[in-house]
Amino acid sequence: MDIQKLSGTAQALVASGKGILAADESSGTIKRRFDSIGAESTEEKRRDYREMLFRTGGVAEHISGVILFDETIRQKGADGTRLVKVLADQGIISGIKVDSGAKPLPGAPGETVTEGLDGLSERLAEYAKLGARFTKWRAVITIGPGIPSPYCINTNAHALARFAALSQEANLVPIVEPEVLMDGDHTIDQCLEATESTLREVFYQLGHQRVALEGILLKPNMVLSGASAADRAEPGEVAEKTIDCLKRMVPASVPGVVFLSGGQSDTEATVNLDAINRRAALVGAPWQLSFSYGRGLQAAPLKAWAGRAENMKQAQRAFYHRARVTGAARQGLYTPEMEGELASV
Ligand code: 13P
Repeated sequence: MDIQKLSGTAQALVASGKGILAADESSGTIKRRFDSIGAESTEEKRRDYREMLFRTGGVAEHISGVILFDETIRQKGADGTRLVKVLADQGIISGIKVDSGAKPLPGAPGETVTEGLDGLSERLAEYAKLGARFTKWRAVITIGPGIPSPYCINTNAHALARFAALSQEANLVPIVEPEVLMDGDHTIDQCLEATESTLREVFYQLGHQRVALEGILLKPNMVLSGASAADRAEPGEVAEKTIDCLKRMVPASVPGVVFLSGGQSDTEATVNLDAINRRAALVGAPWQLSFSYGRGLQAAPLKAWAGRAENMKQAQRAFYHRARVTGAARQGLYTPEMEGELASV
């Protein structure tokens, strides 16, 4: 393990004003996204869509890295250039999702465990050869009556740490993603409690399994009210509770926290990230507080594209705009007026 290299990559991924595009939707998820715009999910269409995002002019000003899916890291663009090279030529770092998804956890109704450890070290070596410099593994924690259970949290945290240790052995920076879902009508305090329990166990397991914290990134949920809660917390409270939670649970040696958008609307994800960074500027925080958004960056370009080549420029404009405003939020410099500046991009 080359810790110098790992921490250099981790720091580059959270460079000032920049964050990560999560474009690693699995085949099932991207099909659902394409269904929502009436586009067929073929290999070529998925390539065209992602290539369009990756070739968006100027996007490297705000995007440091892209998380790819297995199919994409092997794909070439329409002109035969490997997509990893399309990104590298702009200084964007390629990463790869390496888990194989959340499966029902035996004996724990309503809960899941993320699979994908078998044969992982061989796959990591191959991904490194294909140009990946970082990896991602997503564990899913659900809030509901009587859950999350300690059993679910422990099993997922153990697997996350196994993944992280194996990634570092391959000199790939692990993005450790324990996502407490926002699905449900729970309060922000229930989310705070579940997120604290989860992060406590994740960092216990990471330490136990000898993961070098200087060479990871944490990808957590923000501390939020449930999506269908009656009285959802405002950005100020989200920021306060998110920073309090992270300060209690995340060691200062972790270089960066890259939030997922998790089903928030794109503007909600931007406003909350901005509030978190403004709060951090006020009370101090030892880590970079950035983003690794899927839907938060892609909802607008996906809709603008609608599966049609002739909409490419409009979709790229929408993507550049979301990257720009999210890059501003990542520094606590977002203003709602920026949303009206799309036309001039
Ligand atoms: P969302 O930002 O859409 O939650 O996706 C991030 C991600 O990579 C989930 O694993």
